[in-house]
Amino acid sequence: MVIPAYTPFVFLLLLFQSGVWGVPVCQTPQESPTCGYKSCHATKPGMLNVHLVPHTHDDVGWLKTVDQYFYGDRNDIQHAGVQYILDSVVDQLLKNPDRRFIYVETAFFYRWWKQQTDDMQNTVKQLVNEGRLEFVNGGWCMSDEATTHYSAVIDQMTMGLRFLNDTFGHCGRPRVAWHIDPFGHAREHASMFAQMGYDGFFFGRLDYQDRNRRMVAREQEMLWRASESLTPPMADLFTGILPNGYNPPEGFCWDQSCDDPPIRDDPDLEDYNVDDVVTRFLHIAHGQALVYKTNHIIMTMGSDFQYENANLWYKNLDKLIRYVNQMQSNGSEVNVLYSTPSCYLQELHRTNLTWPLKGDDFFPYADSAHDFWTGYFTSRPALKRYERISNSYLQACKQLEVLGGPISRKGPFGAGDSETLKKAMAVAQHHDAVSGTEKQHGQRLLGNWPDTHCQVLVSNTLSSLSGSSAPRVYCEHLNISVCPLTETSKKFSVNVYNPLARPVSWPVRLPVNGTAYSISDAKGKAVDSQVVPVSQATAAVRRGRGYAANELLFQVQAPPLGYSTYSVSLLQNGPPSPPSPLPRAPKAVQNKFLRVTFDPETGLLSSLSNLETQQTVKLSQNFYWYNASDGNNSESIQMSGAYIFRPNTSTPFIISKTAKIETLQNSVVQEVRQWFSPWISQVVRLYTDSRALELEWTVGPVPIGDDLGKEVISRLDSSINSSGVFYTDSNGREVLQRRKDYRPTWNLRQSEPIAGNYYPINSRAYIKDDKDQLTVVTDRSQGGGSIQDGSLEIMLHRRLLYDDVRGVGEPLNETSDIYPEGLVVRGRHLLSLSPPATAADTHRPLAQEVVLQPLITFTDGELHPSTRLEFSGLQAVLPPAVHLLTVSQWDQDTVLLRLEHQYQASESKEHSQPVTVNLQKLFSTLDVLGVSEMNLSANQWKDEMTRLDWKAESGTHHTGEKPLPKRGGDPSLWEVNLKPMEIRTFLLRVRQR
Ligand SMILES: *[C@@H]1O[C@H](CO)[C@@H](O)[C@H](O)[C@H]1NC(C)=O
Ligand SMILES: *[C@@H]1O[C@H](CO)[C@@H](O)[C@H](O)[C@H]1NC(C)=O
Ligand SMILES: [Zn+2]
Repeated sequence: MVIPAYTPFVFLLLLFQSGVWGVPVCQTPQESPTCGYKSCHATKPGMLNVHLVPHTHDDVGWLKTVDQYFYGDRNDIQHAGVQYILDSVVDQLLKNPDRRFIYVETAFFYRWWKQQTDDMQNTVKQLVNEGRLEFVNGGWCMSDEATTHYSAVIDQMTMGLRFLNDTFGHCGRPRVAWHIDPFGHAREHASMFAQMGYDGFFFGRLDYQDRNRRMVAREQEMLWRASESLTPPMADLFTGILPNGYNPPEGFCWDQSCDDPPIRDDPDLEDYNVDDVVTRFLHIAHGQALVYKTNHIIMTMGSDFQYENANLWYKNLDKLIRYVNQMQSNGSEVNVLYSTPSCYLQELHRTNLTWPLKGDDFFPYADSAHDFWTGYFTSRPALKRYERISNSYLQACKQLEVLGGPISRKGPFGAGDSETLKKAMAVAQHHDAVSGTEKQHGQRLLGNWPDTHCQVLVSNTLSSLSGSSAPRVYCEHLNISVCPLTETSKKFSVNVYNPLARPVSWPVRLPVNGTAYSISDAKGKAVDSQVVPVSQATAAVRRGRGYAANELLFQVQAPPLGYSTYSVSLLQNGPPSPPSPLPRAPKAVQNKFLRVTFDPETGLLSSLSNLETQQTVKLSQNFYWYNASDGNNSESIQMSGAYIFRPNTSTPFIISKTAKIETLQNSVVQEVRQWFSPWISQVVRLYTDSRALELEWTVGPVPIGDDLGKEVISRLDSSINSSGVFYTDSNGREVLQRRKDYRPTWNLRQSEPIAGNYYPINSRAYIKDDKDQLTVVTDRSQGGGSIQDGSLEIMLHRRLLYDDVRGVGEPLNETSDIYPEGLVVRGRHLLSLSPPATAADTHRPLAQEVVLQPLITFTDGELHPSTRLEFSGLQAVLPPAVHLLTVSQWDQDTVLLRLEHQYQASESKEHSQPVTVNLQKLFSTLDVLGVSEMNLSANQWKDEMTRLDWKAESGTHHTGEKPLPKRGGDPSLWEVNLKPMEIRTFLLRVRQR
């Protein structure tokens, strides 16, 4: 039999309590839980220990929707039913206390848990308390790493981990992060996991060349130092590469979905195969041990949606363990055991070894020479923007829930909540969701936007803060000039809510039909405004959804974490109509910060100058497309698809060498409208008060009548001497250097000159030389590269005719009801030019303004004179280096607060300094009565946070600093010090003023 870790006494106790081999009899969870590292089975020091980890990989949406996956609906698309998996696994765990199972995706576990009886819940609690069922990772989903923004990742992890802590207490806290399927790995994810208290991290996918080298060098396990700013070991994370993706070794898959032979162990029967199974297994185990460092190896016994009939797996695993270990009496030195990732991690830790240090990231991911998973950085660009807007909206909703207090959830407009949108956003972070790699069918991710539950909440709070319960109108299509209220109303007001902790000024464009308006701000002062005709490009995108002839432009400002109200009145309906744009390019367009020139022949950009710093670079920009490979190619049959980018040639096709031009210049904005083809246009826009040049691109429907799949890019070509180097951010936070045809940790053999040089851009990318830095801030995640010196290209849209054979099973060819002939996508790139030493002073705040945009609501007619037109939720503006990352209601009297230093170390002379914020002087509507600090995911008190301590081969060894105990009303916590890139998480006990 298996050698159990239990002493006979404990074993009997377990038998009694959980009623093993029969119906569960226990009602109350065990008194002193033995979960976590204490519940691991013993190993044998002198032997090769093989840790079998039974697991299932349950995608939170991919080919089907989350709910279809949960219920096992639409099994014609993919056979998968998570409810049956959990039913079956629990049943099988009860049959043998040695068995182990890990569960990962809380979105599914939560659905299942709600449907269980009290008895079943108690049984499961006991399994968790005994470490027989263990949660790993534990976020709502297993997030994508290339296309997610850190704020949404932290939120989704917080939600999943909170459910686990609320339900299971400390035994529900996962020790290990587990990203077995994401297609490449971001350094910022590792940094976040370290700050969330994880002891280690395991994944399955990395570049095949990197993997081969690491196998030979036995460097598949390492210490990832995931931040250049945070003091080690704060962002150090032990990281392990799993041996076989996340699948079982070949020949050992005993799921109902597999065809491998079961263990046939009756010697009287003809098919007896125990000797064969044991021999094959020992062979695989010895082979695997050669490419790892210790006498412990891990095997992932499971895969996608497996264990629906868990008896098949466990019956055979029980036998495998028994028969392999029986060989020990014949001199075998292999010991097999049921285990979990944390038990395996504990054994690695016990070896006291030193581990190689990793400083860069795991992008891009290629699984073979022509198979670079760099297409999904851009796939489904409309979804990627929609996800980002929804995140912005959710953050404002959560803030207004705190600022409004109870009335936000039950007020004049009904019952509001932020939970619905929180859950939808959490699902959207899944590695087949925002990544754009789900089937069209599985794409029902988020609810309607704006989410009506948050809408009610926002209306309740704004009515309470302003004292006006006039109905509020939301217009979600302002970017294409649609808003029924502003199109028709003669008098309306605009409420601009600012989710940032500093005052911000934004340009507003409202669809209107009048020709002149008067606007006054919250203090009654007149605001400069202009009316301009709606462009043809905008009218073409909006189709039948609105009929505004004009746009009303003005600049708005709002105080930190607060709102400002603007009143708009129609002055004139009739002629003269607004001045039409002039049909030619200006020589130059400039405001007090920037100057751009255009080539009069082509209508393209020709230079960009920063007037404050007196610097100028040559700069042109145009649109191109790569012809997507159809697989009909001598080097490889790989096609471009939802995951993979594989152009047929390295030279992209130009769409047009020249652009037709219209120019519009007035006191608010200067616009040069460029028309390249029936499916590509752009507006080059400079607002009077802006330090950034806006390029608003509109792409689609991408034509496919020529049977060529197209991957459309915008390319900037400059005089900057970038020497083969460019920079991209990781999940919207720290920036990494990228070098053409180069990887920092191995000698790259480059086999795809374009796709192999693409990296994820979440919020910004830049090129620079000694003098000049050109930064592009994006409004969503996109892929991009720098193929020539001075050049930066960003992929905007993809329309493909073939599936790339990575499981999604359909070509990425998006259409919709409004765009049956192909999706049209519009977005913005914000360009700035600065000396490298001060560039962050512009791009950090700029990117934050794109991520957290103002929430604009309208009320029709005149406001009551007693209406409060301006409000700030803060007592004072926060220092420019500080970002208010989270303000969210936790329990009735508690608020979750995250403060972030948004600059990297040595990135800015002015801002890369420690700053202090006083929590008691933070909010204007709340008294802070007590403060407790938590880990980043808010599932552990900071003073209880101890992580395993790992030694790196190179670099210094840092012992974990023991944090000072700080709880409750400790006054030293009211003064919060933040160092560059630090995020600190607090639970505040508050009282509404
Ligand atoms: C690791 O170090 C600890 C403390 O120094 C020691 O007790 C233990 O025996 C060592 N383990 C191994 C496997 O060397
Ligand atoms: C976790 O849950 C336990 C029990 O429900 C609770 O006492 C504890 O405060 C929670 N921990 C955190 C960090 O929220
Ligand atoms: Zn997956």
